[in-house]
Amino acid sequence: MLARTAGTGAPLPYPELYAKVARHIPPLEWPILAEDIGAILELKRQRNALLLAHNYQAPEIFHTVADIVGDSLALAREAAQTDADVILVAGVHFMAETAKVLNPEKMVLIPDERAGCSLAESITAADVRALKARYPGVPVVTYVNTSAAVKAESDVCCTSGNAKAVVEALGVPRVIMIPDQYLARNVAAQTHVEIIAWDGRCEVHERFSPADIADIRDIHADVTVIAHPECPPDVVVAADFSGSTAEMVRYVASERPARVALVTECSMADNVAIHYPEVEFVKPCNLCPHMKRITLANIRAALEHLAPQVEVDPAILPAARASVTRMLEIR
Ligand code: 13P
Ligand code: SF4
Repeated sequence: MLARTAGTGAPLPYPELYAKVARHIPPLEWPILAEDIGAILELKRQRNALLLAHNYQAPEIFHTVADIVGDSLALAREAAQTDADVILVAGVHFMAETAKVLNPEKMVLIPDERAGCSLAESITAADVRALKARYPGVPVVTYVNTSAAVKAESDVCCTSGNAKAVVEALGVPRVIMIPDQYLARNVAAQTHVEIIAWDGRCEVHERFSPADIADIRDIHADVTVIAHPECPPDVVVAADFSGSTAEMVRYVASERPARVALVTECSMADNVAIHYPEVEFVKPCNLCPHMKRITLANIRAALEHLAPQVEVDPAILPAARASVTRMLEIR
């Protein structure tokens, strides 16, 4: 049956899009969002723009206006391949910067420049130089959740989806892995390569504890618990599986657990759940305030005004690009 606007009884605009987000958006709110959605779809066409959206974006962005959705690795890969004139990143600043590093000649937009990341803020290029001086010759593996300046001081980047593969591909006994100490420790638990970590943490994932996992298991019998590797190691050990946001999706798709808890950012479960109505999603989630700065209204404004644009200092861009490209060549 066609959904209708409460009060007026008028058919809802974009019913096929509304069907995807109906669990999360009341019919009364939809016409307002639909106006922005219609404008964004038209602006994307006019600007020849590609809209990349991270898995943590709100469902009304993820399921309606995004051209490509995925984890940090997938978005970087897509950014490296696109022939669009404009790339809009519905995600956080380091993701937009990575897109710019891979496409210096293209216009890259981020709807809110304040969409940062506690990991990216935990380390500077000067910190990396000091680490290299302290551990001469030890390669620096840098999580993509960093500034372009930090990437430029690094040997190779990684994401949570390929961190172990990147560390092992270097063929050395010891690496420096920055800035997420939990990702570093979680990778160290899976490899013989010695890892020197930095003291950064994700402000969203560090809040999960083993007690949370025990509570989930107590309340929800037979639940499968999947934790993001930015979680503390004792949380990852308490989980049944750990992986990047894309690996979480792949796990649900292949294993079809009857009940699953995605121990990560809130919107993740909302976005995945729509494809698996038979799976019950338990939501032990924390919000990423940076991801939530992106809205349909500011995406529309960014495409209308072609601002804010992301720029990367040309002096560091080639070195930053080399670190990202090396990662994409490994995996
Ligand atoms: P992935 O999507 O690469 O797993 O990263 C999670 C994250 O926190 C991005 O900021
Ligand atoms: Fe950064 Fe954590 Fe937010 Fe991801 S979830 S953008 S790592 S603060």
